Amino acid sequence: MSRPSKPLQTQRREFLARSSALTLTIPFWARTAHSSSEGNAGRLRLASIGVGGMGASDLGSLSSHAQVDIVALCDVDANRLKSAGEKHPKAKQFRDYRTMLDEMHDEVDAVQVSTPDHTHAPAALSAMSRGKHVYCQKPLTHDVSESRQMQLLAQQKKLVTQMGTQIHSHMDYRTAVSLIQSGVIGQVKEVHSWSSKTWGYEGPEPTQNEVPANLDWNLWLGTAPERPYSESQYHPANWRRWYDFGCGTMGDMAIHILDPVFSALQLGAPFKIVSSSPEPPKKSYGMKNQTRFTFGPSKFTSQSFVLTWSDGGLMPDTSSWPKQSGKDGKERQLPDQGSMFVGEKGYVLLPHVAQPILLPESTFANTEVQRQPNGNHYHLFVDACLGGAPTTAHFGYAGPLTEAVLLGVLANRFPQQELLWNADAMTIPNHAVANALLRRKYRSGFEINIPKS
Ligand SMILES: NC(=O)c1ccc[n+]([C@@H]2O[C@H](COP(=O)([O-])OP(=O)(O)OC[C@H]3O[C@@H](n4cnc5c(N)ncnc54)[C@H](O)[C@@H]3O)[C@@H](O)[C@H]2O)c1
Repeated sequence: MSRPSKPLQTQRREFLARSSALTLTIPFWARTAHSSSEGNAGRLRLASIGVGGMGASDLGSLSSHAQVDIVALCDVDANRLKSAGEKHPKAKQFRDYRTMLDEMHDEVDAVQVSTPDHTHAPAALSAMSRGKHVYCQKPLTHDVSESRQMQLLAQQKKLVTQMGTQIHSHMDYRTAVSLIQSGVIGQVKEVHSWSSKTWGYEGPEPTQNEVPANLDWNLWLGTAPERPYSESQYHPANWRRWYDFGCGTMGDMAIHILDPVFSALQLGAPFKIVSSSPEPPKKSYGMKNQTRFTFGPSKFTSQSFVLTWSDGGLMPDTSSWPKQSGKDGKERQLPDQGSMFVGEKGYVLLPHVAQPILLPESTFANTEVQRQPNGNHYHLFVDACLGGAPTTAHFGYAGPLTEAVLLGVLANRFPQQELLWNADAMTIPNHAVANALLRRKYRSGFEINIPKS
């Protein structure tokens, strides 16, 4: 099964009708025309949700565009909000993004979402429903179904969107994409991608601690089920280890490393995903994962193309791969993170954010690699909002990429059990338990209102 074949409008209607996570009421703001950046004297009014950690970096990069005004900041951690406020003293400050979107509706053109993964879709969908352009951190969403919702809503409302995979616009990744598509290694038969990182957790149940005064724990939990606060287990950054909040190592790294693989090979949806990882814990991700995706052929891949992801110290079998030598003539180790494209006529090794290398070296000694220019991923988003060229990590691209990665995340929870994916119907017909995890139920009081049309 490859990419969805039905028109997007039909998919959207069917999908929204099936989704139990949504309350299909039409709030007042959804009936009004969206406030757009057009007519705002060539300036983009940006609101930022999640302004600490990566959010602080995103805010810095977006605000470095000369035509951006930061008008609102939102964070559930008062300390992080205060730090961002010192850099952007004119911006109004909020703890709850829902209040911010309600109160600032007419004063915001675009929203940046840099919260933990479980809050990406609730915040971004709420903003998009109001007609706001969205820059959203990776992975696009926590659940597979949310990625499809984001994709469809962006298209329906004709919004400018960009997933926060900034290296998508980096010259090394762009160069790798054009190199593979040039056909120099022929049709690609398989790709192996890996990361030495791990966001697994196999420790004891977290102890309960008093919530610090600076943190609104209820808002931090948002759509996720209630659980007691525990110091250093969730906020900040460690939420990645837990099923309820993050997407483990694949959500952190596969979304980056598989990005040039998807771009270069124009992959559709995988139709079969199977994990050979060790059995994971009940509530948190396993320490090591190995996940195999099977795709139908694309313009750049062979008939039975297979992509394999490995993390947490597991590595692909490299025995048949050509070796790479350093300047001293000695064999070089594989990078800690990256991909190997295995083609009919050769190999491309793509270390994570470094230049692609053609192998065997002797075969390609005289092949010139056309270097591609660097792009500023953040500024490209702003320029697109202001009427410039479309973004390339828009949700029409990032949605299917995230769906595939999240299916891998899901497969790792059910090792040795093949998941068959029907992308059109958005179902895993052979596995009821995994199928139920495609969409979670939002906590009462945190449902989102999405207009029907
Ligand atoms: N593109 C990249 O290279 C890159 C790198 C790191 C992180 N990220 C992504 O950035 C996001 C944040 O990761 P992080 O490491 O900075 O996490 P973090 O926990 O350090 O920071 C998250 C921030 O969001 C705030 N927050 C949490 N819930 C919120 C809510 N409901 N409303 C408003 N603010 C809220 C937190 O207080 C905190 O300031 C994740 O999606 C992650 O995958 C991307």
